[in-house]
Amino acid sequence: MSVQLFLPTFAIEECLAEIRECLEKGWTGSGYKTLEFEKAWCEYTGLPHAHFLNSATSGLHLAINILKEEERWQDGDEIITSPLTFVSTNHVILYERLKPVFADVDQYLCLDPDDVERKIGPRTRAVMFVGMGGNTGQYDRIERLCRQRGLRLIIDAAHMTGTRLHDQTPNGDVTIFSFQAVKTLPTADAGMICFADQKFDELSRKKSWMGINKDTYQRTSDRGNSIMAAIGLVQLRYLDRDTSYRRQVSDWYDAGLGESNRIGIVPTAPDCESSRHLYQIHLENRDEMILALNGCGIYPGVHYRDNRDYRMFRQERDTCPNATRMSQRIMSLPLHMRLTRKDVDAVIERIHAYAR
Ligand SMILES: Cc1ncc(COP(=O)(O)O)c(C=O)c1O
Repeated sequence: MSVQLFLPTFAIEECLAEIRECLEKGWTGSGYKTLEFEKAWCEYTGLPHAHFLNSATSGLHLAINILKEEERWQDGDEIITSPLTFVSTNHVILYERLKPVFADVDQYLCLDPDDVERKIGPRTRAVMFVGMGGNTGQYDRIERLCRQRGLRLIIDAAHMTGTRLHDQTPNGDVTIFSFQAVKTLPTADAGMICFADQKFDELSRKKSWMGINKDTYQRTSDRGNSIMAAIGLVQLRYLDRDTSYRRQVSDWYDAGLGESNRIGIVPTAPDCESSRHLYQIHLENRDEMILALNGCGIYPGVHYRDNRDYRMFRQERDTCPNATRMSQRIMSLPLHMRLTRKDVDAVIERIHAYAR
């Protein structure tokens, strides 16, 4: 038995046909399929602008670089962010010589608006909201808070491809998606930056080509290429179908694990139709559980380790108790298109057997 955490699935013949078109035309770089994909993305999400990039990390960096420059933020100004995220969410804040100020996460593992409010200070310029696993958490409250306090709202929507809230794709001042290999719309490596403001969208197009404070090792452009966009276009056709299946798998997990008082399930926020990039549970003996599952060919994951465990994000005192606690307890269960009901039942059975 081998049940992987992620296993991307592609409509292979359709992808090859789209890629063939690029090769035949002799246009594999930016500006051919990338424009088609940007248009398709705007139509799918309802967002006004979309610029295709080589990764979400580039998009996050670009977002902060543009906002800092255009709004005249100073070095050392602050962005309130989550400690429970992929590290690149917070790396990009440091790249621009700004300061990440960590607020705690709530029961959805997304930013807790009460704690965000407590952490707003005179130098706070923006809030970075991470839609963990596709969840929208208390996004509405975060958005309201940002409007009231004049803060920019950046959404790290790396997990939110296919997520809807009140029937719409969440739309911050800037929203950044990932189409990296294991995401819900997998290509190989790619991302999309969606600014609400046209002026910033235009700037992002210029800057992704002209360079954004590039380090010497970083010689390639941040622009996405037509081969990735070709795969993205095909994958987008199947996104809603795939999301339905992910929700189905999640319902099976809910039904199988919901009764246990040793296992906590990270809930999906009300009104959120989650992309279900992740299905997360939390339990006391997480590390032991992972080893036991690995021993029988089941490979869960951890999303994420508290970023403050890393030296660059270390702080003087613990200000996010829930993130600290959850970082030691959370586990993501296998969730992908090739998972069968039988696989899910096997995972559930083993979890019950090993949970303490
Ligand atoms: C929450 C989050 N943000 C940002 C990223 C970065 O995405 P990319 O790999 O497209 O740069 C990821 C990818 O793993 C992620 O999970």
